[in-house]
Formats: sequence, structure tokens, C-alpha cells
Amino acid sequence: MLSRVPPPLRASTLLACSRNAVAAPGKRSIGARMASTSSSEATASFLTSRATLASATAFTVGTIAWYTHLYGTLPFVGEISANSPAEEGLHPPKYPWSHSGFFDTFDHASIRRGYQVYKEVCAACHSLDRIAWRNLVGVSHTATEVKALAEEHEYPDGPNDQGEMFQRPGKLSDYLPAPYPNEEAARASNGGALPPDLSLIIKARHGGCDYVFSLLTGYVDPPAGVEIREGLNYNPYFPGGAIAMARVLFDGLVEYDDGTPGTTSQYAKDVVTFLNWAAEPEHDERKKIGLQATILMSSLVLLSLYAKRFKWTPLKSRKIVYNPPKPKQH
Ligand code: HEC
Repeated sequence: MLSRVPPPLRASTLLACSRNAVAAPGKRSIGARMASTSSSEATASFLTSRATLASATAFTVGTIAWYTHLYGTLPFVGEISANSPAEEGLHPPKYPWSHSGFFDTFDHASIRRGYQVYKEVCAACHSLDRIAWRNLVGVSHTATEVKALAEEHEYPDGPNDQGEMFQRPGKLSDYLPAPYPNEEAARASNGGALPPDLSLIIKARHGGCDYVFSLLTGYVDPPAGVEIREGLNYNPYFPGGAIAMARVLFDGLVEYDDGTPGTTSQYAKDVVTFLNWAAEPEHDERKKIGLQATILMSSLVLLSLYAKRFKWTPLKSRKIVYNPPKPKQH
């Protein structure tokens, strides 16, 4: 005869069993029931306790503070700004850059033309500190071409046997020369404004390529009622609208070797592609390795899913049957 229906087996019951095993070996089922009741009470009191409430609040406030500190704004919450949208700068349109897709590399012919624009126009005021001559080798020019380009500039070196510094022609290991010896000289020549180093400008500005392209091609006459101070120029894409850099690109300014028509927008597109390469020289390699890693990892995932199913098949598909012993015939 069956004496009692055993209590439903749960994780808490199991735990309680082992805990109560020593204390009350005789009262297994009662101990188990009581333990399971008290554990759910403990959960309830944990959820309603002041400490939990306080720590959840602290966590929420901390997360919001950390997010606003990091990004300056909160998602889904409108911003109140003292500036009008015009003062923030006109938002640049999105352009279809030939290198913006997942599988796209830089247009290297464009980098080469862009270097020419940088050299003939921008290098008069802007430095490109992080790029050495050797970086151009195999990207936009051959080693021989880059050596010739480097030798056009003189670099200080030394000391020599007499202990004096001397000038020597540039080498592949030298960095691109800066137009001004220091910030003060740069400011003095540009009406107090500092032409920023262009090495990372594409990464350093909101809108990246689109912004710099729009800035270079966006010079227009100021609209009625907008006063631009002497020495500044109106450009709707520049935050505030008044920029110290005048329009620098004009049709026919640079003559390309490869016969590409020399228009303002062509120059801007090429120099922006060049500056994007300068900011991300690893770009092409990064996308290639990324693609390889994705292919490799996803095939490994598929393989391990298959191996897992293969190994688990006997366990998942087996059937355990209990055959009670046949009552003995006396
Ligand atoms: C005659 C000197 C001069 C030349 C040439 C020149 N710039 Fe500038 N550029 C400046 C000055 C000065 C500023 C700083 C403007 C300011 O802060 O108001 C500047 C600022 C910039 C900025 C930063 C704008 C921002 O958002 O802060 C970019 C990008 C830029 N120039 C790109 C170029 C490119 C590309 C070329 C070549 C096609 C070029 N510049 C040629 C003087 C020049």
C-alpha cells in the first residue's frame, strides 16, 4: 500500500533536503516543505527590502550619469539648446563614398590625386603630422616616387663631427613637413585662427568625410542680415557659420596627371579620400581581416553546432524504460 504522495521535487526542495538531512533525518518531507516555504519568503523579503530598493536606485542613477557623461545626451529625450540649428552648422548630406561599404576599399587613384591637392593647396597652412613619407609607399605612389617627393624637402639632422646641426634632403622615414614651426607662427599668419593638423580631421569631426567635403565646397555669400567679421568667411556647414579659412578650392586649380577633370568638387572628393586614408591607414586591411574573421568564426560556429548535435544525439534520442520486476510466482 502507498503511504503518502511524495512532495513535488523542486530545486529548493532538493537543497532543503540536503540542508535538513542532518538536523532532522527522520522528518524528511516536513523539513523539505518548510524549507521551500521559507526560501520563497526570503526571496520576497529580498525583493521588498530597503537595501535592494536603495541599490537599484543607485544603479539606475549611476547608469544615467555615466551615459550622460559619456555621450552628453540621453536617448529618446529631446535636447534643449541655446543655439539655433544654424549656429550648430548645417548638417551635411550623406554622400556615396566609394569606400563606405562593408566590402569597399579606398579608391587608391583618388588617394593619389588627393595627395596632390593636399600638397599643392592645403599644405600651405595645414600640417599632416602623423604621416611619414614611407606611409605613402604602395598606397598612392611607388617607393621611387616617394623618395623623390621626400627629397624635395630639407630636414634638420645632426650633430655632425664638428657638433653642428645640418640640413639634409628628406628620407622615407621622415614625417611630412609642417608649414609653420609652431602654433604661434600658424596663428600669426592666419589672423589668429589655428589651421588644425589634418591627420585625424576626418575622425575628429562629426560627419567625417561628408562634413569636410561639404565644408570645402559649401562657401556661399552670407544670407541677408548675417554680418561676417573682417577676416572671416561665411560657410553654413561650419558651426557658427563664420570660418577663418577662406574658400581654397576652385575649378582648374590643380592639374591632375591622370587626366581627371579638375573641378572644385573633384578636388574636394579626392582630398577627403586622401585625408580619410591618413586618418585610417589600416582601413583596407581592417575590412579584409574583418571579413576573414567573420567567415572563419561563422564556419567554426556551424562546425561546433554540428559537433554538439552529433555528440548529444545518443543522449537526446535515447528512451529510458523501466521494466518492473515481475512478481515472483510462489
Ligand atoms: C590659407 C590657409 C589655409 C589653406 C590653404 C587651407 N586651410 Fe583649412 N583652415 C585654415 C584655417 C585658418 C582654419 C581654422 C578655421 C577656424 O577655426 O575658423 C582651417 C580649418 C580647416 C578645417 C577644420 C574645420 C573645422 O571644423 O574646425 C578643415 C577640415 C580644413 N581646414 C581643411 C582644409 C583642406 C582640406 C584644405 C586644402 C584643400 C585646406 N583646409 C586649406 C587655413 C587654411
